[in-house]
Amino acid sequence: MTKKAIILCGGTGSRMFPLTHSVNKQLLPILDKPMFYYPLSLLMLCGIKDFIFIVNKNQEQNFRNTLGDQNDLGIKVRFVAQEKPRGLPDAFLITEKFIKNKSVAMILGDNFFYGNMLSPLIRETFKLKDGCNIYLYPSKKPSSYGVVEFNKKNQIKKIVEKPKKTTSNSIITGLYVFDKNVISFTKLLKPSKRKELEITDLLKIYKSKKKLKAEFLGRGGTWLDTGNIEDFYNTSSFVSAVENRQGLKIACIEEIALKQKWIKKIDIKKALKFYGDCNYSQYLKRLLK
Ligand code: G1P
Repeated sequence: MTKKAIILCGGTGSRMFPLTHSVNKQLLPILDKPMFYYPLSLLMLCGIKDFIFIVNKNQEQNFRNTLGDQNDLGIKVRFVAQEKPRGLPDAFLITEKFIKNKSVAMILGDNFFYGNMLSPLIRETFKLKDGCNIYLYPSKKPSSYGVVEFNKKNQIKKIVEKPKKTTSNSIITGLYVFDKNVISFTKLLKPSKRKELEITDLLKIYKSKKKLKAEFLGRGGTWLDTGNIEDFYNTSSFVSAVENRQGLKIACIEEIALKQKWIKKIDIKKALKFYGDCNYSQYLKRLLK
């Protein structure tokens, strides 16, 4: 069972300039929570308790301040700074000691997943013994993402990063789980034309060894890439609509930790002190009843 995860919170955030000139985009708000709460929640729902955040140089303290006392969540959080963006697979090279020859999940800190069938489905795939698992979602604009093309037998035929033209609408979301070979395979990668290591090149290595598995996140689930300005605002509207309707919060990390029995109600009281008098605290108070 995969027990560790990397949350990628680096990058220049250039698609969101000028908002991200001085702050990592994953700290920006999606409605009432920092963006990274959402991918963190998904992995907590999948049972992951051991995290390493990859952040930009000089941003670690901002993340620590935002998260507060991590022990209140019953999870372990470490941080590692990335000197400069060198592509998604660089994450595995800078976290080699953390991965320690085990399988590892990786999620992009700007990816938003929602749907109550998602975490059981993903959790199941985290049992992987060898290979790599990716999660596909239909998109009207596949050219902005990594894309998987299938042959007539529905086997993966081709993986392309941001294709100008493609017949497929199955895009690769920013969640991956890799077996222990991820580091040695990453070391085989060469930088692409844009001088970065490409995650799709790593996936191609797994594919060449027949070790790449793809899971479709059904159309009933929601996936948004909050790293572009339009989806950034759409995600807040989506969260607002669902939360207002149900009276339940999406990505309340303390609620998830409590449900997982990683913390007790006393820890929620500590969290209340940390959050102070805000809407989020009002919701936490309800958990004490
Ligand atoms: C990255 C990956 C791409 C994937 C996308 C998901 O692209 O390179 O394969 O589909 O994340 O969000 P980026 O958003 O860094 O351009």
